[in-house]
Amino acid sequence: MATLQIHVVPDPVLRQKAKRIRYIDRSVHHLIGNMMDTMYGASGVGLAAPQVGVLWRLIVIDTREEEAIILINPGIVKRLGSRMVNEGCLSIPGYEGEVTRAVSVTVKGWNPQGKEVRIKASNLLAQALEHEIDHLSGVLYTDHLISPDRLYRLSPQPAAFKQSLASL
Ligand code: NI
Repeated sequence: MATLQIHVVPDPVLRQKAKRIRYIDRSVHHLIGNMMDTMYGASGVGLAAPQVGVLWRLIVIDTREEEAIILINPGIVKRLGSRMVNEGCLSIPGYEGEVTRAVSVTVKGWNPQGKEVRIKASNLLAQALEHEIDHLSGVLYTDHLISPDRLYRLSPQPAAFKQSLASL
């Protein structure tokens, strides 16, 4: 497995719509492995395929609080509540912003074995699911800022602190 290059704004690939995966073949499993390596290598909480330049509907998430999640063709079927949260993105390095996210979400998709799964999530996992699924439609968290002035440049931080930021 290998780490992949993470595309950053204003790379147009981040604004394109990803395509449904029809068959889970070796190339999909290969990409999953490389995306996991890339996410952990960047100390990220989640990664969507378009961030590594691949327009497939595939996301990986590991909040370190719950089991890692790999979802193929994910979609949100239910959103409950709303709350304000801070958010960052590996494709928008050096920034953090305040956005509105659901309190909990229900998501449907396939696991790597092609079995349909349904996930009910709240807190950071719900935030990560919304964020990564947005990437599949070319949507970035900066599109959800509670107001345009709620985007903050992060001052250079010691590595240990940097890792605690939610980079999605
Ligand atoms: Ni992101």
